[in-house]
Formats: sequence, C-alpha cells, structure tokens
Amino acid sequence: MVGQRAPNVAGLCGNLALRYVCAVLLTPAVDWSPNHRALRILDQRLLPAAEVVRDLYTIDDVVDAIKTLAVRGAPAIGVGAAIGLVVALRTVAGESGTHMRALLPEFAERLVASRPTAVNLAWAVGRMRACAERATDATLHHAMHAEADAIRLQDIAMCNAIGAHGLVLVPDGVCVLTHCNAGALATAGIGTALAPIYAAHTAGRRVHVYANETRPLLQGARLTAWELRRVGIAVTVLPDGAAASLLRSGAVDLVLVGADRIAANGDVANKIGTYSIALAARAHEIPFYVTAPWSTIDAHTADGATINIEFRDDSELGELPIGVGVWNPAFDVTPHTLVTGYLTDRGFVEPPFLASCVG
Ligand code: MRU
Repeated sequence: MVGQRAPNVAGLCGNLALRYVCAVLLTPAVDWSPNHRALRILDQRLLPAAEVVRDLYTIDDVVDAIKTLAVRGAPAIGVGAAIGLVVALRTVAGESGTHMRALLPEFAERLVASRPTAVNLAWAVGRMRACAERATDATLHHAMHAEADAIRLQDIAMCNAIGAHGLVLVPDGVCVLTHCNAGALATAGIGTALAPIYAAHTAGRRVHVYANETRPLLQGARLTAWELRRVGIAVTVLPDGAAASLLRSGAVDLVLVGADRIAANGDVANKIGTYSIALAARAHEIPFYVTAPWSTIDAHTADGATINIEFRDDSELGELPIGVGVWNPAFDVTPHTLVTGYLTDRGFVEPPFLASCVG
C-alpha cells in the first residue's frame, strides 16, 4: 500500500460527471491509478484531518481497505472491488489469462466476504466473474479491465441521474436531514442521497443539510459534513440521539438517506440508526426518501428479515468498563411501510421489485 498526499488542484474535467466530482472531491473516492496498475482510493479513515491517497496493488490491501472502511459506502465498495480484482490479479499473474483465471475464484470470494450487507459488492464481483466466463484466456485481462471501468463509469452516470431526478425534492431554501455518508465519498461519482443536494446547489438553490454524526464511526460528522462544506453547502451536525427532537421541531422538510440493500418488498438495509429516523419521521409526518442506484435493489431477497447484517468489532465503541457487553450492528432494516419513496437513477420507483425487472 503506497500512501501519498492528495494533489491541491482538481485538474481539467472532460465531462459533466467529472465536473461534479471535481467540485466535490479533488480525488475520487475510488478510481484507477494513472497507469491503471493500482486501485487509487482516498483513505476515509483519516478524513477530515488528512487527505491521503493510497494506491492498492494486492488482494490483501484491497480486502483490508474495504474491511477497515478506508473505502466505504455501497456503490464505492462495488467499484473498488471491481477495479481491485483486476489490479490484484495482474499484480500476481501479469497479463496471463490462464494464471488470472486460476486465481479468480479465491480473490473474488475474499472480496465478497469482506463486507456482507451492501449488495453492490457481490453484484460487482458477480459481473466481473461473468465477464471472465465470456472471455478467452487471450482476452481475459483486457475484458476484465474494460468491465471494471464500465462499472465505474456507470456508477458516475447513475449518481448524476439520481441527482437530476431528485431535483424535484430539493426546492430553494429546503432543509434536509441525512444519515451516515451517501455522498461523493460513498460512490465513484457525486453520491446518492447527496446527489439531489449537489444538483440543487449547482442550480443555485439554497440548501441546508442536517447531518447525523452517525456513531460509532462518525461518517456523518467526519465525511458528510466535510464534503458538503468543501462546496459551500450549509451543514449542521447533530448527535444521532437528537434526530427525533430535530424532526419534531419542524426545522426539517425531508429526510434523504442511502441504502446498502433494498429487498424485493422495499425493506431497506442502511447504516445503523436509519430505522430510528424513519420511525421519528413517520411520527412527525416528514417525508422519508431512500436513494440508491438500481444495482442496490436485490430482487432475490424477499424482505429485510433475511438480509445479512454485518456486526463490527467491539473496539469501535471505545473504552468501556471491564465486563460490559457490546452489541454493534453496522446496519439496520427500515420496513418499506416507513418509506415515502425510492429515488433511483431510473427515477422514482415502487416495490415490489421483481427479479424479471432488476438486471
Ligand atoms: O459502513 P458504511 O460507511 O459503508 O455505510 C454506508 C451506508 O450505510 C450508506 O448509507 C450506504 O452504503 C449508501 S452509500 C451511497
């Protein structure tokens, strides 16, 4: 793993998607290194104190970065796994298709096992394996490289489409509550829940964002607040426990959150604490919208009851008295009955999500 300081200038951006990204992040959350030999990430463990870019070459480094949340957010870990798979195979096998194919199952399984809840990870690795099946040994490296880049570019486009469709939710002067980080740092593009906010900001609308701090790893306080302030969007951070009181106060017009997996019936797995916000939003009649790329819909999972919820290490809760137990789920499930609407890159959609419609 090679660490280096992020550059100070954004550089020239060739298309609208990249212009958005450059406006938010100087370095995308996940990308190729310039020579395409490494997965380049902005290390989110160190934000906002330091902007450190890392180039990852090996399967150990990529798996470790996903497990430790150096790269995080459902779409970003999907893109990171796709690029990471190609570069990790190349690091060991060169461009030998036979050697790459022999290593592929083990590397793919290690990536999928690194975080279980976000469907985008297994979805992206599944796409890479299907691509390898179609390729000959002679074309394998080239085909997998092209597929990983297609996943990255599609993610950028999906974020922009969510932003465009979601503009209708974000009129001038709106106040939005969000949870965790579903912004540029969680995708290859401008994010999901934050995409309509960036689109509205770009259109000259004033937006105020309340960001739950999102214990225990503080993705809201460290990451959402950081990326919104970079582009001059007003942001107020609150402790997670204050969200219900804020919603009751009348200060919030709507809630926008991301998703790690959306089941066929519309139940939503997202960062722990999302369910509490949905309950409070319903109690105070505030619209609660879930935003996600189409790839986050898992039509093969009937409802939230069977979603595999990741539990994380006790140490994330910090120092506790000896003998105290810890319950530390990384995600929770919000029942579809509490969701006002689902905003995707294909526009607003409604469950049930049938396997025949979800690619
Ligand atoms: O544990 P994290 O930080 O990866 O959790 C991220 C979330 O829960 C996001 O809301 C979700 O992945 C959607 S990101 C567009």
